[in-house]
Amino acid sequence: MRAAHPARMDFDTELVERLRAARRVAVFTGAGVSAESGVPTFRDAQTGLWARFRPEDLATPEAFRRDPATVWNWYAWRRELIGGVQPNPAHRAIAELQQRFDTLTVVTQNVDGLHQRAGSRDVVELHGNIWLDLCFECGRRSAQPGGGTEVPPRCAYCNGLLRPGVVWFGESLPPSAWDRALDCAQRADIFFCIGTSSLVEPAARLPHVARAAGAVLVQVNPVPTAHDAIAHHVLRGKAGVVMPALLEALERM
Ligand code: OAD
Repeated sequence: MRAAHPARMDFDTELVERLRAARRVAVFTGAGVSAESGVPTFRDAQTGLWARFRPEDLATPEAFRRDPATVWNWYAWRRELIGGVQPNPAHRAIAELQQRFDTLTVVTQNVDGLHQRAGSRDVVELHGNIWLDLCFECGRRSAQPGGGTEVPPRCAYCNGLLRPGVVWFGESLPPSAWDRALDCAQRADIFFCIGTSSLVEPAARLPHVARAAGAVLVQVNPVPTAHDAIAHHVLRGKAGVVMPALLEALERM
């Protein structure tokens, strides 16, 4: 089946020219970039995960200590959902963009691995990866748990409980990921901010760092967020529509 031809959109000439001249691009993404794959966001009214569940009951170390089986099962449900979806045109356009620049780094808050599945090669996962199992006690990475019926499964090394390898509220980001994200923000010629409400620190700081370092800030979101005020360009729309159209505009001009 032929891929649908991206809807033609007109972009500010200055943005296209800046993109054509750029050498280093950073693409900062949140749950909105996976929304069109069918992965729930967190804060969209009605459909967002945090509209239906309480973060403090599921996405904190305290919640895991209190009720490990419920937390494990919630992530197992999310894994099953994510395992059944495909990267969408936004992920694919971002992956295609990377060959047009000296460097294009995706700095994502998402844990779904869809950027990598779409072909993005340089991805920084600020909040970990849902497919990773770590021991809650010794921190070792565990291969996918074998058999056994205990929920959560246990660590093969220390017999501690396994947890998903994602960052929970109150936990620090992986230091190497944060350092790389900061470096990208400070060196980018163009900094895209795609599909994030920009409400969770320290990730939400990155667009400010990029702007202060001289990057052209491009916001892609169907609705306004706090970063509209500091963006040089606001592309109002769904990432799955805007990003393929931007790629097409770059190829056309
Ligand atoms: P949110 O759910 O907070 O925000 C999703 C954003 O995507 C909103 O601004 C939507 O308007 C926008 N959006 C929705 N559909 C879109 C589409 N088709 N195209 C483009 N944008 C769209 O998700 P995040 O900002 O990613 O962290 O949330 C940040 C962090 O808070 C997550 O990593 C997670 C969450 O709690 C932890 O759990 C630690």
